[in-house]
Amino acid sequence: MTTVIKNGTVVTADLTYKADVLIDGGKIIEIGPDLKGDEALDASGCYIMPGGIDPHTHLEMPFMGTYSSDDFESGTRAALAGGTTMVVDFALPSPGQGLLDALQMWDNKSTRANCDYSFHMAITWWDEQVFNEMETVVKDRGINTFKHFMAYKGALMVNDDELYSSFQRCAALGALPLVHAENGDVVAELSAKLLAEGNTGPEAHAYSRPPQVEGEATNRAIMIADMAGVPLYVVHTSCEESHEAIRRARMQGKRVYGEPLIQHLTLDESEYFNADWDHAARRVMSPPFRNKQHQDSLWAGLQSGSLSVVATDHCAFSTDQKRYGVGDFTKIPNGTGGLEDRMPMLWTYGVNTGRLTMNEFVAVTSTNIAKILNVYPQKGAVLVGADADLVVWDPAKEKTISASSQQSAIDYNVFEGKAVKGLPRFTLTRGKVAVHDGEIRCEEGHGKFVKREPNAPVNAALSTWKELTAPRPIQRSGIPASGV
Ligand code: URP
Ligand code: ZN
Ligand code: ZN
Ligand code: ZN
Repeated sequence: MTTVIKNGTVVTADLTYKADVLIDGGKIIEIGPDLKGDEALDASGCYIMPGGIDPHTHLEMPFMGTYSSDDFESGTRAALAGGTTMVVDFALPSPGQGLLDALQMWDNKSTRANCDYSFHMAITWWDEQVFNEMETVVKDRGINTFKHFMAYKGALMVNDDELYSSFQRCAALGALPLVHAENGDVVAELSAKLLAEGNTGPEAHAYSRPPQVEGEATNRAIMIADMAGVPLYVVHTSCEESHEAIRRARMQGKRVYGEPLIQHLTLDESEYFNADWDHAARRVMSPPFRNKQHQDSLWAGLQSGSLSVVATDHCAFSTDQKRYGVGDFTKIPNGTGGLEDRMPMLWTYGVNTGRLTMNEFVAVTSTNIAKILNVYPQKGAVLVGADADLVVWDPAKEKTISASSQQSAIDYNVFEGKAVKGLPRFTLTRGKVAVHDGEIRCEEGHGKFVKREPNAPVNAALSTWKELTAPRPIQRSGIPASGV
């Protein structure tokens, strides 16, 4: 049974053109005029784009004494509702737990996914077992990215020696290290001081994580990655200090990618000063929301290319879960949702305002990350042979974001009340229509794990260069006798 998307305009990261798209067996088999299929989807007035890829989610994750509330079923349903057709979640070993053991837990959870998915592997501690298992993770399990937390001291945080060891291992395996870049030691000191001074409310979460802790850690990770000879991906880049470090590194030829979140692009720190404790606590995440100058910096990064990807860090906790932190902000589970809203919010605040072109929108929501993760053009492309992960985007469709109509399992939405214009008319996951004109037609378990090969082109190029410029002994004709 073939499906044809008719009368639309194809928009990719580099082209915009009128064409129909024909799908069979979950793949795009033809692109061109006047195509016919068994089933037709009308894309009149719409753009046919690669489905979104969200490379940063935490579904059903054990964290800060609880589990994030969206699991692989509700999380991927929210993704599809908003035009995202692939998520990459973080498999998180507890300190001392083996990587393969943790992966087994994530395998079990993800069987319920409605759309395709992959995993990043987190390095939360370091010894020979971790070193050895990294190879199995890359070669046998199809995971080419390793996440490192420079914050969450006493829990997930790794120190510089561990970072350097793991980054070197990534270089040898052709894998890409990711960092959550905040100086965890300083955050711990600031948090203790704030609490001792009676700063216990959610606003103190923001005070405890100023832009400097992020800028410092970003720069440190960049330098360590450079010494290890490996590219680097900085998750949830939220401020100018961090962006500046990334921008400078890229201008020096270092292979560094920055990932702003839709939350940081569109919501600011004033949320934490809200008189309603719940309102502020629901927005507690790390790094915290920043002021307008930082937001402008992030938008400029997307425009200039110094920042590469827009993600969500979807990590949803209910109001009841957030209330674990009443009286002590350090106990508020860190995280916010966004999977359903990333694409409509970025379109509304990016494309509709003229800050981004449609092609740039596709690049930062899908194609760039597909290339970084080495799954392009299977994902992130409208090309013959690519997976039919597509969104038929209706630029005239409007809604007001509300928790009452969202797919996410939690009881609020950090974008509540925002009016968005630009929404999916259809979302297709490997050819299956999961969103049909506002109706959700997901199929639990349809999502498949996407294997990712190591040695992406940038890894390969960088390791060639590092090998060529590595320190070597100077060959000398005569060596003087020892002066002793
Ligand atoms: O606050 C956040 N970002 N929670 C999720 C875990 C992480 O740090 O990415
Ligand atoms: Zn993080
Ligand atoms: Zn995260
Ligand atoms: Zn299916």
